[in-house]
Amino acid sequence: MTWGFETRQIHAGEVVDAQAGARITPVYQTAGYVFDDFEDAVGRFAEKGERLVYSRHANPTNVVAERRIADLEGGAGALLTGSGQAAIFTTIYSLASAGDHILATSSLYEGTKQLFRGNLARQGLVFDFLDAEAPDAEWLARITPRTKAIFTESIPNPKNDIPDVDRLGGIARRAGVPLVVDNTVATPYLFRPIEHGADIVIHSTSKWLGGHGAVIGGVVVDSGRFDWRAQADRYPQLTRSPRPGVPSFAEKFGTGAFLPFAVTLANDYGPTLPATSAFLLLLGIDTLSLRVERHVANAQRIAEWLDAHPAVRSVDYAGLPGNAYHERARRLLPLGAGSVLAFEVRGGREGARTVIDALELVTRMTHIGDVRTLAIHTGSTIHSKLSEEERVSLGIAPGLIRLSVGLETPDDVIADLDQALARI
Ligand SMILES: Cc1ncc(COP(=O)(O)O)c(C=O)c1O
Repeated sequence: MTWGFETRQIHAGEVVDAQAGARITPVYQTAGYVFDDFEDAVGRFAEKGERLVYSRHANPTNVVAERRIADLEGGAGALLTGSGQAAIFTTIYSLASAGDHILATSSLYEGTKQLFRGNLARQGLVFDFLDAEAPDAEWLARITPRTKAIFTESIPNPKNDIPDVDRLGGIARRAGVPLVVDNTVATPYLFRPIEHGADIVIHSTSKWLGGHGAVIGGVVVDSGRFDWRAQADRYPQLTRSPRPGVPSFAEKFGTGAFLPFAVTLANDYGPTLPATSAFLLLLGIDTLSLRVERHVANAQRIAEWLDAHPAVRSVDYAGLPGNAYHERARRLLPLGAGSVLAFEVRGGREGARTVIDALELVTRMTHIGDVRTLAIHTGSTIHSKLSEEERVSLGIAPGLIRLSVGLETPDDVIADLDQALARI
């Protein structure tokens, strides 16, 4: 495929509707698909995945969105899920069983950490968090025969502490485990983790991919490159035959074994994305590059303005030259460091309360990647269950406010922040 990103976000994976010739992918709002006759039903059940059976397993609207996102990420295939959390859960459950271990970077979306430390730990999975900047030797020392993946995010929020994905990819290869990257905040327009050594990419499509704050969703993208058979004992679910006479996923699909296995797992657990949501997701992806370009330009402008404001102690945005991650962002994210930033106001928690309560245009809300600019005091909400010590170690100061910069006229957002900051 030689088309550019903008062409592919509109056309990749499209299938022109055979019946009416609809130009835009229709919503196939159906639970199931008609079997022509007895033998057709037998055939469809025998070759699950190629012909449609039931919408928990596959749906034509979803299939187009899956092919489109896989193409934009440079992956071999993708699986839509009902939310970003479901994408993470499906990925981890496909790779690891009770007693297995996942090694993750310590700066992650708090909901992911809650899932890891809470319900997945309850099922016997073991999670370990390590500073992304720890030396290679420390990372490798944490890998055991039961380690099944390294998990990270390409742009963690709210701190913008961008990990060196190329280096983590190298560590994962040496350890013989896949690198899983949550690429939600970067989007494939700004960063494609597979080009930097990732094996599996996940997104909350609720954010910039959908882009309008209208719909929850998630996706798992497989690079199709990991050699599961070279790690046969580590991934028996992929490399061993499930029943006598039945080939293993790796025998059947080679390095592409992960995705069909994840599809069967999703079919069992049922975190299906509704076709109407896949339709809205496709509408969002049509304009992804345009939106992200503007999100980034607005974020850069607002970050620079905040950085110069006397009521602001500091700004966490890797697009700012003084930021500790600026050089890495320039290398990994030449088109911009995303559009989520955090700023610490003077006056601690009370200062933050004053600013949050005074906002008139900016929305008080927990979400990112919306067309609207959203603000939240994460210390008293998203990070409220952590101890003060944990918050300090993550850089969540009492006066820290997260901003997901939207697509309004930036001067209007700045004017709103200005009147709010003036009250401190
Ligand atoms: C980086 C990241 N990953 C995953 C998720 C979870 O996605 P969802 O809310 O779609 O379940 C979020 C949600 O905020 C997120 O910010």
